[in-house]
Amino acid sequence: MCGIVGYTGNHQAAPILLDGLSRLEYRGYDSAGLAVRNGEALAEVVKATGKLYHLADKTDQGRSLIGTCGIGHTRWATHGDPSVTNAHPHVSGNCSGSGSGSVESDVVGVHNGIIENFAELKEKLLRHGYRFYSDTDTEVAVKLVDYYYKKYRIGPIDALTRTMVRVRGSYALALMFKDYPGEIFVARKDSPLIIGTAEDAAYLASDVPAILKYTRHVYYIDNLQAARIAPGSVKFYDLNGDEVSLPLTEITWDAAAAEKGGYEHFMLKEIHEQPTAVRDTLNSLLKDGQIDLSAAGLTDETIRSLTQIDIVACGSAWHVGMAAQYVLEDLVKIPVRVELASEFRYRSIPMAENTLVIVISQSGETADSLAALRVAKERGALTLAVVNVVGSTIAREADHVLYTLAGPEIAVATTKAYSAQLIAMDALAVQMAFARGAISPEQYGHFQEELSLIPDKIRRVLEDKERLQWFSSKIVNSHDIFFIGRGLDYAISLEGSLKMKEISYIHSEAYAAGELKHGTISLIENNTLVIGVLTQSQLFEKTVSNMVECRSRGAYLMGITTNGNFAVEDSVNFTVYVPRTDEHFISSLAVIPLQLLAYYTSVNRGLDVDKPRNLAKSVTVE
Ligand code: F6R
Repeated sequence: MCGIVGYTGNHQAAPILLDGLSRLEYRGYDSAGLAVRNGEALAEVVKATGKLYHLADKTDQGRSLIGTCGIGHTRWATHGDPSVTNAHPHVSGNCSGSGSGSVESDVVGVHNGIIENFAELKEKLLRHGYRFYSDTDTEVAVKLVDYYYKKYRIGPIDALTRTMVRVRGSYALALMFKDYPGEIFVARKDSPLIIGTAEDAAYLASDVPAILKYTRHVYYIDNLQAARIAPGSVKFYDLNGDEVSLPLTEITWDAAAAEKGGYEHFMLKEIHEQPTAVRDTLNSLLKDGQIDLSAAGLTDETIRSLTQIDIVACGSAWHVGMAAQYVLEDLVKIPVRVELASEFRYRSIPMAENTLVIVISQSGETADSLAALRVAKERGALTLAVVNVVGSTIAREADHVLYTLAGPEIAVATTKAYSAQLIAMDALAVQMAFARGAISPEQYGHFQEELSLIPDKIRRVLEDKERLQWFSSKIVNSHDIFFIGRGLDYAISLEGSLKMKEISYIHSEAYAAGELKHGTISLIENNTLVIGVLTQSQLFEKTVSNMVECRSRGAYLMGITTNGNFAVEDSVNFTVYVPRTDEHFISSLAVIPLQLLAYYTSVNRGLDVDKPRNLAKSVTVE
């Protein structure tokens, strides 16, 4: 949600900022803007609604904005509708228009996050003569910094730290001050922000891909820290305004990892990267042929002391938790609860002693997951983050971190990060089961062997994609799709349904197959598509029966099952087979056809596959 970029150096800033913003498009946005200044001159602000090319057109691809220092923003509306006036950057001056042009202003800034007490702060600023042109909390934040800057005649860092103490909520703020040409000042709390350095330049961005073309050296600014950025120099400050030092990190992944690499969409590329993402994640957890969780700091002794596991996450990451629940319960024989982070954070769930709370998150920045992690820590639980983005807030705040190695995921709809999370959770379950003596050494060996074969089996499923492409052209005009399954198959159905609805905009629902009769079956009409996931031998016949019940009410049936279950063709209209594996780990294979089906359906409907409407990649607000 919202993307921020900043640059100061010897080159023209606007083209660099536009390029950076284009690499943050995946985060979701509805308007964009730039502020660029040339030496002592006032900042020039240009904003546009809609896609980034409108802003590029308005600025002649950045060429009409002259200056070597600037900030840029893609906005995902929270306070106020998507309009030029509400788009960032915002200015401190009492201007009458939309805050665009060469506005007489001491402070100009962009912001990602939500200022919760903005109404109260706005009242205060109105009393002090400030006038507002937009509905945004960001304009309030920029004017509050300006207020402290002038009232106390202090420098930008002190004005920022005073503001940080006064505001509640989350922010990554980047500001330029009229009196400080060539410098950008930033502050961060609970919203992602990285700072990059190069010899004669400095950069800032919400995410690494925005600046990777220019530098691989980045700082992960901490919560409640501020920074002062000038060409070739970055200084960090704590809330007292005292200088602090932060480690410089070198980004090792290839810039090509964040490019489409010949695929039509990032999503298709990322679907095909799954064998690698899964293999890399698994290999990172293996040492001398054994699963080794020491990098995550989880010793066998800690694992043996656990009495309960709670998994909290949002969206697809929550679906990973749902799948992991069945595997953990069955292998580790430990009570497992899976909660939506947005619910968990506001419930007063009694926390049993020695509970491990696992927070699963690709971005490591999801606001609800982060809040849930903090609640779990407050309640005395041990916490483990399963996270993809290195250095993200959730990774930094959890007691232990298990990194998935999916690499940068750009498409809004997750695929490879989901698969990397699944394999990480499966490996975790196997190791926990072994450490607690719940499985024998032979079973341990068997499970490890089966896990190691998953990447190749995913590759085999991908080879069969043309059939799904064909099938998708048949279902492209569906109004409703139901995904059903029992046990692990239910968890897979949840993910299949979310993938379908979020990128094809076809209404879909996932149901535990046994629940259909309790209401939903009344929605089945002639030709309603029902997709059954049938990978669990013990539950196979029961789900087939539920599918047949739907067929007798007019439904058209698709089944996903494992090789050899050919009898299913007697009952369903279209069958997809995936290779056999130990049934605990089948989610990694059965989800692939569902991802492909969603992908091709979105393409066939002519939709923006990588950036579905209203969605953001990293949901940093509640
Ligand atoms: C769906 C999807 C989302 C995310 C959810 C959590 O395709 O990507 O449902 O899974 O927003 O995001 P993270 O994993 O970053 O916490």
